[in-house]
Amino acid sequence: MTRHRIAILVGSLRKDSLNRKVACSICAFASDKLDCKIVEIGNLPLYNQEYDGNSPAEYERFRDEIREADGVLFVSPEYNRGIPGVLKNAIDIGSRPYGKSVWNGKAAAIVTASPGAIGGFGANHQIRQSCVFLNMPVMQQPEAYLGSVTDDQFDEDGCLKDGKLKEVVVKLANAFAEWVDLIHRAREHLYGTPEERKERRRERADA
Ligand code: FNR
Repeated sequence: MTRHRIAILVGSLRKDSLNRKVACSICAFASDKLDCKIVEIGNLPLYNQEYDGNSPAEYERFRDEIREADGVLFVSPEYNRGIPGVLKNAIDIGSRPYGKSVWNGKAAAIVTASPGAIGGFGANHQIRQSCVFLNMPVMQQPEAYLGSVTDDQFDEDGCLKDGKLKEVVVKLANAFAEWVDLIHRAREHLYGTPEERKERRRERADA
């Protein structure tokens, strides 16, 4: 299996975020199959459509990082039964200018973690709703509403200790690696390698 590049977006800016620790654990557990990188979103100015013609450098840097990835993993808390504003801001920035969305076609998965019992179900489905609109094939199963998550489930490096939650997250990480690979191979089978696709686009532009 190819070791695909994954951009991880964490919906919490908190230094000791449980979701960031879950994201770091996924990076560690799937490191043989996935080349994961957390793409920071806390410095992105609030999205303004007026910037579409002349975007801030932070937008461009962010869009480039997403473009380079083969897949996207969202790991987020739920705020007031919905998606945290900082994450929605990043999603909106990546979706524009119109027709140039960096999300288009990227394989994705959504993980929500909370100390609460429902595990961020509301936020999870709001993120999914945006992904559907943005034409991202989102992993269906296993669903990942991680409830009753606490700090003591992680070691001092912020990685999940042995236990039920670690088992669930390892399964998730493996399923996501297979999902990204499946989407990648399906696309190559149908449309050719990225190089072949680029060549065809060049030929069309020259014609
Ligand atoms: C929360 N929290 C929360 N939890 C939940 O399960 N459902 C919710 O709707 C909310 N709403 C909410 C709003 C706001 C503004 C805050 C700050 C928090 C609690 C939240 O799950 C908890 O603080 C997590 O620890 C936040 O995730 P990180 O920062 O640990 O990743």
